[in-house]
This record gives sequence, C-alpha cells and structure tokens, in this order.
Amino acid sequence: MMQDRVLPQPVRPFLKWPGGKFRLVERIRSALRPGRRLIEPFLGSAAVFLNTDYDQYLLADSNGDLIDLYQRLVDDGEAIIEASRGLFQPQMNQARRFYALREEFNRTRHSRRRAALFLYLNRHCYNGLCRYNGRGEFNTPIGRYARPYFPEQEMRGFMAKARHARIVHAAFADTLAQARHDDVVYCDPPYTPLSRTAHFTDYHTGGFGWTDQEQLARLAQELAARGVQVVISNHDTVATRVLYSALGARLESFTVRRTISCDAKRRNPVGELLAVFG
Ligand SMILES: C[S@@+](CC[C@H](N)C(=O)[O-])C[C@H]1O[C@@H](n2cnc3c(N)ncnc32)[C@H](O)[C@@H]1O
Repeated sequence: MMQDRVLPQPVRPFLKWPGGKFRLVERIRSALRPGRRLIEPFLGSAAVFLNTDYDQYLLADSNGDLIDLYQRLVDDGEAIIEASRGLFQPQMNQARRFYALREEFNRTRHSRRRAALFLYLNRHCYNGLCRYNGRGEFNTPIGRYARPYFPEQEMRGFMAKARHARIVHAAFADTLAQARHDDVVYCDPPYTPLSRTAHFTDYHTGGFGWTDQEQLARLAQELAARGVQVVISNHDTVATRVLYSALGARLESFTVRRTISCDAKRRNPVGELLAVFG
C-alpha cells in the first residue's frame, strides 16, 4: 500500500522581501543538484538557504544593511533579539514613531541599534520594500499593519542554520568568481520588468538593468562549462527566454500568485522561469 508522504513545512524567512522565494522553494530545490556547497549571490530574505541542506554555504547580497543584520545575528544574536523586542510594542506602530525611528536608522553609527532598526523598518514599512534615496537613506513609508509580528523564532532558526554559512557583502560578479567545481549556484536577481512600461523594481540604489541580466547569464554559462551548476530565476518573458536559451540553458516555467503588489491587475498569476545551466 502507498504511504502518504508527509513533507516538512517550508521554513519561513524572518524578513519580508520583495521577490522573496518562500512560496517557490520546493520548485527551486528540485532544480538544484546535490553538491558540496550552495552559493547564493542574491540572498534577499534567504528563503532558499533556509530550505536546502548543503554542507556549506556562501551567501551574499549587495545590500549592506541586510548583510550587516545577518552578520550581527550570527555574531551576537541574543543581543540583537533583545535590542529588537522593544521596537515591536504596539505603540511603535504609529506614523510619528516610525518616521523618528527611520530618521534614527539613517543617522546612527551604532551597529547593534542599526541592525535592530533595520528589522523594525522591514516589518513596519510598506510591503517590506527596502528603498533608498540618492543619499543612500532608507525612505520607504510606513505600511498598514494592524500588529507587526516579531519574528523571534524565525530569527533563532536563521541563527542556528547560519553557523555553517559564510555571509558576505558583495556584488554578484565577485560572488560568482568564488565558485569552484562541484559548487551549486542559485541566482535570484531583481526581476526584469514584465513590460517596458512596468515601473522599475528598485531594490537598492543603483538598480539592476538589462545589461546586468545579460552579464549574469553569460557568467552562468561560463561556470556551467567548468562543472558548476547555475540556476537563475526570473519572470517568464520573451526576452528572458531568448537570453537564457541562446546561452544553452534548459528552461522550466510555472505560474505563481503574487501578493506584493497592491495593483489588482498584478495580483494575477505571473509566469516564473527557472533557467538551468549545466
Ligand atoms: C529577488 S531579491 C532575492 C530574493 C531572495 N531569493 C529571497 O527569497 O528573499 C534580489 C536581491 O538581489 C540583491 N541585489 C540587487 N542587485 C545586486 C547586485 N548587483 N549584486 C548582488 N545582489 C544584488 C537585492 O539586494 C535583493 O536582495
């Protein structure tokens, strides 16, 4: 008789992150080969790291505030949890407090306080969007949450798993330069727009344009030729299909329901693409 297979629940990241892959982890995991080490050059909320089981990890992102928070959690996790707890009291979820704390985040040089404030901003701001102005100051407005959740258990889960990870602040080309034979790489760059008129997804000062998408795909092709498997996620568009297949990738497509946009039209299922090199 067939046994019902009970699959473990995916582990939820402690940050809200636009383009986060929490809902897609099973699909992504099944495209990734086993290997010695998993490299993630676009770490974001770390959904794939949290839901895979490699012996070693190299985790990177170009957002320095994000990487600082992760590094502080690994080095000094209990202190960061205690520094954050008070920021999740109900009275902190008011516009006046939010804007004062956002200002403090942009001014303070105290690294533990900055890490705690980054977590506070992520969980209280509009849709968890991490947006900066031209001076590099965080400028996302307050979100509309009845009771922002303090993700203590999820932070502890991250801390335990991240003991086996190297976490670095780096642009993707520098991270990919570290890849060695038998490594596996999962790349989740900022999405390319669905249409030319779609407004640009600005995750970080500097943005991520089409030439970056092309450079990433070319580097993936080069790594695959050296025995490194590289899987890239993106929107399923004519342009992404042409780019990846011309460089020899195998394509897997599927749909997913989006919740990040408040524009009703963009809540429709969106095509996702996985380009598998090697
Ligand atoms: C789609 S998100 C990754 C989401 C992640 N997979 C998750 O599950 O949360 C893209 C990430 O790429 C980072 N990023 C943008 N430009 C980058 C660059 N040039 N090099 C490295 N990371 C970059 C952003 O800071 C953002 O965290």
